[in-house]
Amino acid sequence: MMTLRPLPGPFGAEITGLDLAVAPDEAIFGRIVDALHEYAVVCIRDQRFAPPQHIDFSRRFGELEVHVQSSFNLQGFPEIYCISNCLDAGGKPLGLAEAGRVWHTDLSYMAEPSRCSLLHALEVPQDGEGRPLGDTMFANARMAYAALPAPAKARLAGLEAVHSYRQVYEKIVAKSKPGRQGLKPLSEEQKRKVPPATHPLVIAHPYTGAPILFCNDGITESILGLPEGEGPALLAELCAHVTKPAFVYRHKWQAGDLLIWDNIQTQHLAVDDYWLPQRRRMQRTTVKGRAPEAVRAA
Ligand code: SIN
Repeated sequence: MMTLRPLPGPFGAEITGLDLAVAPDEAIFGRIVDALHEYAVVCIRDQRFAPPQHIDFSRRFGELEVHVQSSFNLQGFPEIYCISNCLDAGGKPLGLAEAGRVWHTDLSYMAEPSRCSLLHALEVPQDGEGRPLGDTMFANARMAYAALPAPAKARLAGLEAVHSYRQVYEKIVAKSKPGRQGLKPLSEEQKRKVPPATHPLVIAHPYTGAPILFCNDGITESILGLPEGEGPALLAELCAHVTKPAFVYRHKWQAGDLLIWDNIQTQHLAVDDYWLPQRRRMQRTTVKGRAPEAVRAA
Protein backbone atom coordinates (compact mmCIF):
# COMPACT_ATOMS: atom_id res chain seq x y z
CA MET A 1 0.00 0.00 0.00
CA MET A 2 1.26 3.48 -0.88
CA THR A 3 2.36 5.52 2.14
CA LEU A 4 3.34 9.19 2.04
CA ARG A 5 5.24 10.87 4.86
CA PRO A 6 7.11 14.19 5.17
CA LEU A 7 10.90 13.96 4.93
CA PRO A 8 13.01 15.41 7.74
CA GLY A 9 13.63 19.07 6.89
CA PRO A 10 11.59 22.13 5.99
CA PHE A 11 9.87 20.44 3.01
CA GLY A 12 9.88 17.24 0.94
CA ALA A 13 7.93 13.97 1.19
CA GLU A 14 8.70 10.29 0.75
CA ILE A 15 6.48 7.66 -0.85
CA THR A 16 6.91 3.95 -0.18
CA GLY A 17 4.86 0.93 -1.21
CA LEU A 18 4.52 1.91 -4.86
CA ASP A 19 6.01 0.09 -7.87
CA LEU A 20 6.12 2.32 -10.93
CA ALA A 21 6.97 -0.63 -13.18
CA VAL A 22 3.17 -0.92 -13.16
CA ALA A 23 1.51 2.34 -14.25
CA PRO A 24 -0.32 3.86 -11.24
CA ASP A 25 -4.04 4.60 -11.64
CA GLU A 26 -5.39 8.16 -11.89
CA ALA A 27 -6.21 8.37 -8.17
CA ILE A 28 -2.66 7.45 -7.14
CA PHE A 29 -1.17 9.71 -9.79
CA GLY A 30 -3.36 12.58 -8.53
CA ARG A 31 -2.02 12.04 -4.99
CA ILE A 32 1.56 12.22 -6.31
CA VAL A 33 0.84 15.49 -8.16
CA ASP A 34 -0.84 17.02 -5.09
CA ALA A 35 2.13 15.97 -2.95
CA LEU A 36 4.51 17.52 -5.45
CA HIS A 37 2.72 20.87 -5.28
CA GLU A 38 2.51 20.76 -1.48
CA TYR A 39 5.92 19.31 -0.57
CA ALA A 40 7.88 20.55 -3.65
CA VAL A 41 10.15 17.45 -3.63
CA VAL A 42 8.78 13.89 -3.60
CA CYS A 43 10.98 10.81 -3.31
CA ILE A 44 9.46 7.50 -4.46
CA ARG A 45 11.69 4.80 -2.96
CA ASP A 46 12.85 1.45 -4.35
CA GLN A 47 12.09 1.86 -8.06
CA ARG A 48 13.70 -0.68 -10.42
CA PHE A 49 11.94 0.26 -13.67
CA ALA A 50 13.52 0.43 -17.14
CA PRO A 51 13.88 3.56 -19.36
CA PRO A 52 10.51 3.11 -21.20
CA GLN A 53 8.67 3.05 -17.87
CA HIS A 54 10.61 6.12 -16.66
CA ILE A 55 9.53 7.93 -19.83
CA ASP A 56 5.90 6.76 -19.70
CA PHE A 57 5.49 7.79 -16.06
CA SER A 58 7.18 11.18 -16.68
CA ARG A 59 4.90 11.88 -19.67
CA ARG A 60 1.89 11.85 -17.37
CA PHE A 61 3.17 15.19 -16.02
CA GLY A 62 3.48 16.64 -19.54
CA GLU A 63 5.52 16.58 -22.73
CA LEU A 64 9.23 15.80 -22.22
CA GLU A 65 12.25 17.93 -23.10
CA VAL A 66 15.25 16.60 -25.02
CA HIS A 67 18.37 18.17 -23.51
CA VAL A 68 20.51 20.49 -25.65
CA GLN A 69 23.64 18.52 -24.50
CA SER A 70 22.53 15.61 -26.69
CA SER A 71 25.77 13.63 -26.23
CA PHE A 72 24.52 12.68 -22.73
CA ASN A 73 21.05 11.58 -23.81
CA LEU A 74 20.56 7.82 -23.32
CA GLN A 75 21.05 5.90 -26.54
CA GLY A 76 17.64 4.99 -27.99
CA PHE A 77 15.85 7.14 -25.36
CA PRO A 78 16.70 10.81 -26.07
CA GLU A 79 14.23 12.00 -23.41
CA ILE A 80 16.52 10.51 -20.73
CA TYR A 81 19.50 12.63 -19.76
CA CYS A 82 22.38 10.74 -18.13
CA ILE A 83 24.26 12.19 -15.16
CA SER A 84 27.26 10.12 -14.13
CA ASN A 85 30.93 10.17 -13.22
CA CYS A 86 31.36 6.63 -14.64
CA LEU A 87 33.11 5.65 -17.86
CA ASP A 88 32.35 2.83 -20.30
CA ALA A 89 34.93 0.17 -21.21
CA GLY A 90 36.39 2.52 -23.85
CA GLY A 91 36.81 5.37 -21.35
CA LYS A 92 33.83 7.35 -22.66
CA PRO A 93 31.70 9.15 -20.01
CA LEU A 94 28.34 7.47 -19.32
CA GLY A 95 26.83 10.86 -18.56
CA LEU A 96 27.57 14.43 -17.61
CA ALA A 97 29.63 14.30 -14.42
CA GLU A 98 29.35 18.00 -13.66
CA ALA A 99 25.57 18.44 -13.80
CA GLY A 100 24.02 20.81 -11.31
CA ARG A 101 27.16 22.09 -9.57
CA VAL A 102 25.61 25.53 -9.00
CA TRP A 103 22.20 26.50 -7.62
CA HIS A 104 19.75 26.48 -10.50
CA THR A 105 16.16 25.92 -11.61
CA ASP A 106 16.11 23.53 -14.58
CA LEU A 107 15.73 25.38 -17.89
CA SER A 108 15.01 28.79 -16.31
CA TYR A 109 17.03 30.08 -19.29
CA MET A 110 14.16 29.08 -21.56
CA ALA A 111 10.93 30.97 -22.26
CA GLU A 112 9.12 27.97 -20.81
CA PRO A 113 11.15 26.53 -17.90
CA SER A 114 10.47 22.94 -16.98
CA ARG A 115 7.49 21.97 -14.82
CA CYS A 116 9.30 19.19 -12.98
CA SER A 117 12.18 16.75 -13.31
CA LEU A 118 12.30 13.05 -12.38
CA LEU A 119 15.76 11.79 -11.41
CA HIS A 120 16.26 8.05 -10.96
CA ALA A 121 19.24 6.87 -8.89
CA LEU A 122 20.85 3.76 -10.39
CA GLU A 123 24.14 3.87 -8.46
CA VAL A 124 24.89 6.04 -5.42
CA PRO A 125 28.49 6.66 -4.28
CA GLN A 126 29.36 5.88 -0.66
CA ASP A 127 32.14 6.76 1.74
CA GLY A 128 34.24 4.13 3.57
CA GLU A 129 31.54 3.77 6.27
CA GLY A 130 28.74 3.18 3.72
CA ARG A 131 27.27 6.69 4.01
CA PRO A 132 25.87 8.11 0.76
CA LEU A 133 27.78 10.81 -1.10
CA GLY A 134 26.65 13.03 -3.98
CA ASP A 135 23.62 14.48 -2.16
CA THR A 136 21.33 16.92 -3.94
CA MET A 137 20.27 20.08 -2.09
CA PHE A 138 16.95 21.78 -2.79
CA ALA A 139 15.90 25.32 -1.87
CA ASN A 140 12.23 26.26 -1.67
CA ALA A 141 11.62 29.59 -3.42
CA ARG A 142 7.94 29.69 -2.35
CA MET A 143 8.93 29.53 1.33
CA ALA A 144 11.72 32.04 0.70
CA TYR A 145 9.32 34.54 -0.87
CA ALA A 146 6.74 34.10 1.89
CA ALA A 147 9.43 34.88 4.50
CA LEU A 148 10.38 38.24 2.97
CA PRO A 149 9.22 41.34 4.85
CA ALA A 150 6.44 43.37 3.16
CA PRO A 151 8.73 46.27 2.03
CA ALA A 152 11.07 43.77 0.30
CA LYS A 153 8.10 42.16 -1.46
CA ALA A 154 6.87 45.59 -2.58
CA ARG A 155 10.31 46.39 -4.02
CA LEU A 156 10.28 43.23 -6.18
CA ALA A 157 6.82 43.78 -7.66
CA GLY A 158 6.99 44.40 -11.42
CA LEU A 159 10.72 43.63 -11.75
CA GLU A 160 12.08 41.21 -14.35
CA ALA A 161 15.29 39.19 -14.57
CA VAL A 162 17.36 37.73 -17.41
CA HIS A 163 18.29 34.00 -17.29
CA SER A 164 21.17 32.65 -19.38
CA TYR A 165 22.31 29.12 -20.30
CA ARG A 166 25.68 30.44 -21.37
CA GLN A 167 26.26 31.86 -17.88
CA VAL A 168 25.41 28.61 -16.09
CA TYR A 169 27.48 26.57 -18.53
CA GLU A 170 30.52 28.78 -17.96
CA LYS A 171 30.05 28.63 -14.18
CA ILE A 172 29.92 24.82 -14.29
CA VAL A 173 32.99 24.62 -16.56
CA ALA A 174 34.86 26.86 -14.09
CA LYS A 175 34.00 24.42 -11.26
CA SER A 176 34.94 21.32 -13.28
CA LYS A 177 37.41 18.99 -11.58
CA PRO A 178 40.62 18.40 -13.56
CA GLY A 179 40.51 15.03 -15.32
CA ARG A 180 36.72 15.00 -15.79
CA GLN A 181 36.03 15.05 -19.47
CA GLY A 182 32.30 15.63 -19.72
CA LEU A 183 32.11 19.23 -20.90
CA LYS A 184 33.00 20.49 -24.37
CA PRO A 185 32.73 24.15 -25.36
CA LEU A 186 29.22 25.06 -26.52
CA SER A 187 28.86 25.01 -30.29
CA GLU A 188 27.44 28.06 -32.09
CA GLU A 189 24.34 25.99 -32.84
CA GLN A 190 23.83 25.13 -29.15
CA LYS A 191 24.23 28.81 -28.24
CA ARG A 192 21.66 29.77 -30.88
CA LYS A 193 19.23 27.15 -29.57
CA VAL A 194 19.24 28.65 -26.07
CA PRO A 195 19.19 32.46 -26.17
CA PRO A 196 18.62 34.21 -22.79
CA ALA A 197 15.06 34.46 -21.46
CA THR A 198 13.44 37.20 -19.37
CA HIS A 199 10.99 36.32 -16.58
CA PRO A 200 9.20 38.24 -13.82
CA LEU A 201 11.18 38.16 -10.56
CA VAL A 202 8.11 37.05 -8.63
CA ILE A 203 5.96 34.55 -10.49
CA ALA A 204 2.70 32.80 -9.73
CA HIS A 205 3.01 29.03 -9.47
CA PRO A 206 1.20 27.78 -12.61
CA TYR A 207 -0.86 25.19 -10.70
CA THR A 208 -1.34 26.65 -7.20
CA GLY A 209 -0.95 30.39 -7.84
CA ALA A 210 1.48 30.72 -4.89
CA PRO A 211 4.06 33.50 -5.32
CA ILE A 212 7.59 32.25 -6.04
CA LEU A 213 10.86 34.18 -5.93
CA PHE A 214 12.16 33.28 -9.39
CA CYS A 215 15.92 33.86 -9.53
CA ASN A 216 18.85 31.52 -9.00
CA ASP A 217 22.58 32.00 -8.59
CA GLY A 218 23.61 29.79 -11.53
CA ILE A 219 21.39 31.00 -14.34
CA THR A 220 20.00 34.42 -13.45
CA GLU A 221 22.29 36.98 -15.03
CA SER A 222 20.74 40.35 -14.18
CA ILE A 223 17.70 42.22 -12.90
CA LEU A 224 16.35 44.74 -15.37
CA GLY A 225 15.37 48.35 -14.85
CA LEU A 226 17.22 49.24 -11.64
CA PRO A 227 19.73 52.08 -11.21
CA GLU A 228 23.42 51.24 -11.89
CA GLY A 229 24.87 48.84 -9.29
CA GLU A 230 21.54 48.12 -7.57
CA GLY A 231 20.60 45.15 -9.76
CA PRO A 232 23.67 42.97 -9.05
CA ALA A 233 23.48 43.70 -5.30
CA LEU A 234 19.77 42.82 -5.16
CA LEU A 235 20.29 39.66 -7.22
CA ALA A 236 23.10 38.48 -4.92
CA GLU A 237 20.98 39.25 -1.85
CA LEU A 238 17.94 37.35 -3.20
CA CYS A 239 19.96 34.31 -4.32
CA ALA A 240 21.58 34.14 -0.87
CA HIS A 241 18.15 34.50 0.77
CA VAL A 242 16.55 31.57 -1.14
CA THR A 243 19.35 29.18 -0.16
CA LYS A 244 19.30 29.94 3.59
CA PRO A 245 19.24 26.73 5.66
CA ALA A 246 15.63 27.43 6.75
CA PHE A 247 14.50 26.84 3.14
CA VAL A 248 16.85 23.96 2.22
CA TYR A 249 16.25 20.20 2.13
CA ARG A 250 19.29 17.98 1.51
CA HIS A 251 18.49 14.68 -0.19
CA LYS A 252 20.63 11.69 0.75
CA TRP A 253 20.19 9.24 -2.08
CA GLN A 254 19.41 5.54 -1.93
CA ALA A 255 19.75 3.42 -5.07
CA GLY A 256 16.26 3.07 -6.56
CA ASP A 257 15.04 6.54 -5.49
CA LEU A 258 12.94 8.34 -8.06
CA LEU A 259 13.11 11.95 -6.96
CA ILE A 260 10.56 14.34 -8.47
CA TRP A 261 10.99 18.05 -7.91
CA ASP A 262 8.56 20.84 -8.62
CA ASN A 263 11.03 22.84 -10.64
CA ILE A 264 9.08 26.11 -10.51
CA GLN A 265 9.07 26.43 -6.73
CA THR A 266 12.54 25.02 -6.12
CA GLN A 267 16.15 25.31 -7.15
CA HIS A 268 18.82 22.67 -6.58
CA LEU A 269 22.55 22.00 -6.28
CA ALA A 270 24.40 18.69 -6.75
CA VAL A 271 27.10 18.21 -4.09
CA ASP A 272 30.50 17.31 -5.57
CA ASP A 273 32.09 15.17 -2.84
CA TYR A 274 32.88 11.82 -4.55
CA TRP A 275 35.43 10.49 -6.99
CA LEU A 276 35.88 7.21 -8.88
CA PRO A 277 35.87 4.36 -7.84
CA GLN A 278 32.88 5.89 -5.97
CA ARG A 279 30.30 5.55 -8.74
CA ARG A 280 27.28 7.78 -9.29
CA ARG A 281 24.82 6.96 -12.09
CA MET A 282 21.51 8.81 -12.45
CA GLN A 283 18.96 9.22 -15.23
CA ARG A 284 16.72 12.27 -15.55
CA THR A 285 13.61 13.16 -17.50
CA THR A 286 12.59 16.80 -17.71
CA VAL A 287 8.95 17.80 -18.19
CA LYS A 288 8.11 20.89 -20.23
CA GLY A 289 6.44 23.78 -18.44
CA ARG A 290 4.65 27.03 -19.23
CA ALA A 291 5.92 30.59 -19.56
CA PRO A 292 6.03 32.03 -16.01
CA GLU A 293 3.55 34.80 -15.27
CA ALA A 294 3.91 37.58 -12.75
CA VAL A 295 1.82 37.49 -9.59
CA ARG A 296 -1.23 39.69 -10.07
CA ALA A 297 -1.50 42.59 -7.66
CA ALA A 298 -3.97 41.77 -4.86
C1 SIN B 1 20.63 18.22 -11.91
O1 SIN B 1 19.61 17.77 -12.44
O2 SIN B 1 20.88 19.41 -11.86
C2 SIN B 1 21.60 17.26 -11.27
C3 SIN B 1 21.14 16.82 -9.95
C4 SIN B 1 22.04 15.76 -9.38
O3 SIN B 1 22.78 15.11 -10.13
O4 SIN B 1 22.00 15.56 -8.18
